[in-house]
Amino acid sequence: MKVAVVFGGTSTEREVSIASAVEVIRALRELGHEVIAVDSARGRLSLEEEGRLALPSSAPAAIQDQPDSTQLEALRQTRSEVNLSSAVLDCDLVFLALHGGSGENGQIQALLELAQVPFTGSGSTASGLAMDKELSKRVARSAGILTPDWLTGPVDADQVGDRLGWPVVVKPDAEGSSVGLSIVDGPEGLPAAIAEAATYGQVIVERFVTGREFTVSVLGHSALPVGEIVKPEGKVFDYASKYQNDGVQEVFPARISGDLARGLQEAAETIHRVFKLRGYSRSDFIVDREGRIWFMEANTLPGLTRSSLLPKAAAAAGISFDDLCERICRLALP
Ligand code: DAL
Ligand code: MG
Repeated sequence: MKVAVVFGGTSTEREVSIASAVEVIRALRELGHEVIAVDSARGRLSLEEEGRLALPSSAPAAIQDQPDSTQLEALRQTRSEVNLSSAVLDCDLVFLALHGGSGENGQIQALLELAQVPFTGSGSTASGLAMDKELSKRVARSAGILTPDWLTGPVDADQVGDRLGWPVVVKPDAEGSSVGLSIVDGPEGLPAAIAEAATYGQVIVERFVTGREFTVSVLGHSALPVGEIVKPEGKVFDYASKYQNDGVQEVFPARISGDLARGLQEAAETIHRVFKLRGYSRSDFIVDREGRIWFMEANTLPGLTRSSLLPKAAAAAGISFDDLCERICRLALP
């Protein structure tokens, strides 16, 4: 099969996407597919350019502490946000190794739907829904799934004190990988946190629920083994800890009771179904001391880097990375 792996783009998760693409391209070639590599912001890559992408061989190590905003700005200004060549449209399938921004919010999906090219992962409407944290919480709630109370729009400290209580999580309404996220203990910290999150667009302020953090991937319609993110006390699972080894451990399968594992898996399957997600997804949850499961967010294009959570969940189910990529492809075909 001729597959275009589309990656890169102009989102804050550009580097994560490149690291995912390196792994996906290698896997698809090993599986015998004909692969072309396309940076959605720059167009099709020559083989020589592809080679540079793959260096250093341990891709996640190449991910910097924070996305390089100057480079992103330059890309956004010199190109339209998308530069898909006709070669993409001639392929049998587009494998989306994009994360965040127009790659994950439904825009590229809509373009491919209009062009009638099959692509991996969720369709445009479901992608748009999952990328909007507030809408996601509303839909999750309507399906009977708990999610922490929140505020959007102009938010001041009095409202937070009255309606949510401290501490709160302040984050952009539509970013991934914890970009722009902070935890705020009291009124003094609120303006700076909101200003930081606002540099990425609309802001959501959420009640901070403490507990154990879990992640559950769905492949097809069934949940994979639950993973737990185990952090040193007081540490946030932020952009750096997602892609660098700094004491955060990801345990697959999570060491929890069968009942809790099943509860988390059912919640992830429900989210996948009611959001109308397709092929695969990964939802993140917190379980508080009382054992209540709180939905945080759904990721429609979860990371496929070597240190990403979905490949670890698949491995715990005996599914190799190559097999995972093959299944993601097959799930995208009519
Ligand atoms: N947003 C990152 C890529 C993830 O969910 O894995
Ligand atoms: Mg995310």
